Amino acid sequence: MDGVVLISGNGSNLQSIIDHSTAIDLDIKAVISNHSSAYGLKRAERANISTHTLDHKQFSSREEFDQALSNIINQYNPEIVILAGFMRILGAEFTHQYSGKMLNIHPSLLPKFQGLNTHQRVIEAKESQHGVSIHFVTEQLDGGPIIAQASVDIIDIIDTDTAESLAKRVLLEEHKLFPKVIHWFTQGRLKLEKNHAILDGKVL
Ligand code: GRF
Repeated sequence: MDGVVLISGNGSNLQSIIDHSTAIDLDIKAVISNHSSAYGLKRAERANISTHTLDHKQFSSREEFDQALSNIINQYNPEIVILAGFMRILGAEFTHQYSGKMLNIHPSLLPKFQGLNTHQRVIEAKESQHGVSIHFVTEQLDGGPIIAQASVDIIDIIDTDTAESLAKRVLLEEHKLFPKVIHWFTQGRLKLEKNHAILDGKVL
């Protein structure tokens, strides 16, 4: 299945998706970043994947940025659009255009801790569990139907866990979970119907 991946930074999730792409029947046609310095662009180049940078600061409105972004995406006619650490809020029109075929990974156990700095906020809230969620993208930021989650225990939080150490543990789970969920999609097992994520015909 042809896909496009959107990133903003390091691209470790992108790397995991690239590494699993044959096994999960995904042909990554392009990687798009809103930052030219994103290390993920180098990862894509190394894998001979086309890259694009679209600097959101060059646009005077979110709508114009979204339009330019969809112009690039649509050149590749992807069946799946993967947000792998893409740190821009997307407008309603954009999300509608890719409804049912756009997935996002978010580093928290949604619906808890939507938004930014999740690891630090989890520590401050003294949570005993943290993790990652993958969801269909809708116009609600971090609010679309959840497809899958993986959790990590927070141990010795006061003495040893920092936002960085927690992020590393969550990322290990992210790297396993995202290819698995993408594979469900490329196999035609995962769908969005009436704002519910459906796997093998059952509501998740
Ligand atoms: C991940 O934690 C992802 O869940 C979040 O941003 C981070 C991106 O990491 N949205 P990477 O660029 O994939 O290494």
